[in-house]
Amino acid sequence: MEKLTFPEGFMWGTSTSAGQIETAYDHDWKGAVSKDGSVLDRTIDHELRRKEDAGIIASLGNAYRCGCDWSRLQRSPRAELDQGTVDEYRRFFGTLKDQGMRLMLVAHHFANPRWFIDGGSWTSKEAPSIFTDYVAKMCDAFGDLADSWNTINEPNGYAAASYLGGIFPPYRKNPFVAWKVLNTMSEAHKQAYRAIKERQPGTQIGISCSTMAFEGETRLGRIPAAIADKLYIASTLEKFNDSDFVGFSYYGRVPFRPLPIAEITHPGKLALLGKEHDRLWEQYPDGLEKMLTRIWGQYHKPIIITEHGCCTDDDRQRCRSIRDHLMAAHNALDNGVDLRGYFHWSTFDVHEWNLGRSYRFGLYEVHPVTLERKPRLSARLFGTIAKTNALTIENTR
Ligand code: BGC
Repeated sequence: MEKLTFPEGFMWGTSTSAGQIETAYDHDWKGAVSKDGSVLDRTIDHELRRKEDAGIIASLGNAYRCGCDWSRLQRSPRAELDQGTVDEYRRFFGTLKDQGMRLMLVAHHFANPRWFIDGGSWTSKEAPSIFTDYVAKMCDAFGDLADSWNTINEPNGYAAASYLGGIFPPYRKNPFVAWKVLNTMSEAHKQAYRAIKERQPGTQIGISCSTMAFEGETRLGRIPAAIADKLYIASTLEKFNDSDFVGFSYYGRVPFRPLPIAEITHPGKLALLGKEHDRLWEQYPDGLEKMLTRIWGQYHKPIIITEHGCCTDDDRQRCRSIRDHLMAAHNALDNGVDLRGYFHWSTFDVHEWNLGRSYRFGLYEVHPVTLERKPRLSARLFGTIAKTNALTIENTR
């Protein structure tokens, strides 16, 4: 039996986003029809079950990463935040703080208010200042409760899915616009960073950069894999470097042969190649260690894994994935990487944006009809790891 202990004060937690767990208020995903036919509107009633959910969240670590529904908090451009909504979030965050939890607040996680879209969204020159106005107000409302911030969740993931791949609203496929959006978000991050620092100088601010292991597996695959890495990962790390820590998400590997292969785009192909995968991507724990080592080598800043998870109906696979990725993270720690925390995606089965409710990432299962929450084995596993600050290898098999 091997016991891998993590550094004292290591941040353990789970992560959600308001758009995926609350009923949509007035944002661009409201009414979006997902791949599995489910409609993003009422999701898992988190806004009605905050007390119960706070208990679940607190059983899964000493930290929680989450956000607010921007469209519900701020009802028009540069408006004061809606006081009733502020009070509701403050009560919820307060409940978590009372239980000793550290909060990482995410200001933007994919969903935009309808009024922001009407004003040109992230293609507008005004976007950085409108967003910063919101973040400043968010900070005035919740700054005393937040321990750290992600200004923007996965700006590269958002720009690519919304403006290049055409799978997120506004469903565009224009690489030039996608690049422009990424740059606009980078400017928004810089301004928002300053606004938060002025108000809460002691807080830690960063983003979550979406990462994957893009690796060429054929001679012809090497070049597109390197280009994808450069444009999607390396340039994002660089553009959002005005940060106190490097936050990144990591879900797996995309082999290029020469085209990129994922389970979601080429069902069955990864299995034919003899690769383990979840419902979306190849599972590749070594890639997490490589990414940690690379980012540490390049930036020498504290690192936080803001999201990692496994999209599967087989909870034994989820447990394996947690164990193997935490072993990889621990190797990186052993090699001197300053990793400060790990957030598992996700606390619950949430509404997986364009794919739908049936794509499950939760440590807690959510019943499709009653919305009852039930711990999976992986919830017990992760809760124990967080509580003991250690991974005991034998227990996870
Ligand atoms: C996003 C989450 C999403 C998860 C799984 C991340 O890119 O931040 O909102 O649910 O991946 O696809």
